[in-house]
Amino acid sequence: MKINLISGALGAEISGLDLKDSSEENWRVINQLLLEHKVLFFRNQNISAEEQINFAKRFGPIERHVYVKGRDQYPEIIRIIKKPDEKQQWGETWHTDVSYNPKPTKVIILRSIKIPPVGGDTMFSNMELAYETLDNDLKEKIKDKKAVHSSLGAAAFVDAYKGMEGNGNLDEYSNIHPIVRTHPETGKKILYVNSMYTKRIEGLDESESSKLLKELFAHQERLDLTCRFKWTENAVAIWDNRSTQHQGLTDFFPGRGLGHERVMDRIAIEGDQPI
Ligand SMILES: [Fe+2]
Repeated sequence: MKINLISGALGAEISGLDLKDSSEENWRVINQLLLEHKVLFFRNQNISAEEQINFAKRFGPIERHVYVKGRDQYPEIIRIIKKPDEKQQWGETWHTDVSYNPKPTKVIILRSIKIPPVGGDTMFSNMELAYETLDNDLKEKIKDKKAVHSSLGAAAFVDAYKGMEGNGNLDEYSNIHPIVRTHPETGKKILYVNSMYTKRIEGLDESESSKLLKELFAHQERLDLTCRFKWTENAVAIWDNRSTQHQGLTDFFPGRGLGHERVMDRIAIEGDQPI
């Protein structure tokens, strides 16, 4: 096995491991690597949908997406499609998946099916480092505070993209989570807000809340907390959705990245209630 670090902040590209092997032993090795590096990349993994599902089940029960319909034969998998002429794609600003749920996703396994020759890299950011590098004043301000996370409804996940199909759920809702959560496996502290879904801080008035959130979001966007993965077909990314944020870059500009399809198969694993 070889481990190549992607950046100084997080992420490792792993070679010499096979994701077709969903044995407890192989999973333990990968889970240890995941806790250390937070996002793992594997290339040339020609795995089937069944193999992706079998490996995912090692992490825990599969989570169904709130708004998006699963694939016909594999309802556990949602297929994320950007059509050739679309300039936008799913997940295009910094976020943690479904942080508006009472128990947001633990781990995501994303497999590339069709990748444009240029454009559509994915960026990840380390939210344990984001907490560690926060200045003490800000740490004090957010201590024991909670924030409201709101879902954006089906429109944001389905209607805006030609290739995506909803599961019929149109409800919007919110949940409250601590701003600093503790990782259930490593015990590390995590800065747990994100600019896509976190709407306000409890116990502060509107202007104080939005000022503090802006400061936290700006800190989270520091490029030295990130890594960037350039996809190839049959690559797999596995990320810890508790301790990271991510975004799919939408650099599909005419004359460069536009005109190509991008297709990904996503499986999510159920998480814990943040504490
Ligand atoms: Fe996402």
